[in-house]
Amino acid sequence: MSAISSSFSFGQIMNLIKATSQFVILTVVFSATARADAVSKQNFAAKIGYCQDCHGVSGQGYRGFYPIPRLAGQQTEYLENQLRAFVEHRRTNNVMFNVAHNLSPAMIRALATNFRHFNPRPLGGAPKNLVTAGKKIFEDGVPDANIVACAACHGPDAVGKNEFPRLAGQIYPYVVKTLTNWTSERGQIPGKPDTSAVMQPVVHSLTKSQIEAVAAYVSYLQ
Ligand code: HEC
Ligand code: HEC
Repeated sequence: MSAISSSFSFGQIMNLIKATSQFVILTVVFSATARADAVSKQNFAAKIGYCQDCHGVSGQGYRGFYPIPRLAGQQTEYLENQLRAFVEHRRTNNVMFNVAHNLSPAMIRALATNFRHFNPRPLGGAPKNLVTAGKKIFEDGVPDANIVACAACHGPDAVGKNEFPRLAGQIYPYVVKTLTNWTSERGQIPGKPDTSAVMQPVVHSLTKSQIEAVAAYVSYLQ
């Protein structure tokens, strides 16, 4: 799988998966985007300040014992979908459930849109000796293990598109943790598969050292 298109679409990718894999692909349902109603400036300023306390003033994330993801430059559709996933318990995280469960759909939309425009330098700090191996996995996948190139879905520059998240500049320990714990944190409502199902075969096949390598590579991308 080396054909990389910069104008990939979710439909094309789903067709690609159906055509290239043996597993039965789950039907992925995207909820309709909530209609944006007005959000007062004051309310918005208070909420965004709260997000910045943890995610950083420019959404750059935090590299600590408990990593906090970068939101800067992230796709609006992806952020909205994740905020709803925390609220609906499709994605389990107590901190973010408490943060998000009383946000109105209009506020969710406004917050998700806001982070799109930040562009801080990646925090870095990942082992540099893993970057070359990570780049190869990102661009070519792991054909022997049937792992599709990350670039096919996340884009050649890892900036994502719509429901496909940006990975460029994402915090190294957060990406390692996320890929390692995928099955126990995402898509947690049986019978209601969501966009997280698309990543299931990828996380199923990646080894620990492959996860670390590809996480190191994307963490340095601007
Ligand atoms: C108390 C700290 C804290 C606050 C405040 C906070 N977050 Fe978070 N946020 C986190 C942590 C920790 C995670 C990682 C959760 C995980 O590991 O799944 C996270 C994850 C997220 C994600 C998922 C990102 C991804 O790449 O999948 C989104 C979206 C998000 N937060 C948005 C917000 C917004 C919007 C606000 C403000 C309304 C906010 N957060 C406030 C700690 C916080
Ligand atoms: C077939 C398409 C596809 C492929 C191939 C793919 N991804 Fe994904 N990826 C997605 C989608 C869709 C999501 C959003 C999942 C969700 O909504 O929960 C995602 C989410 C992620 C996330 C979570 C981002 C965050 O901010 O929490 C990481 C990390 C990730 N992918 C890494 C990878 C890596 C590394 C590879 C290659 C080894 C890869 N992906 C290959 C479609 C894909």
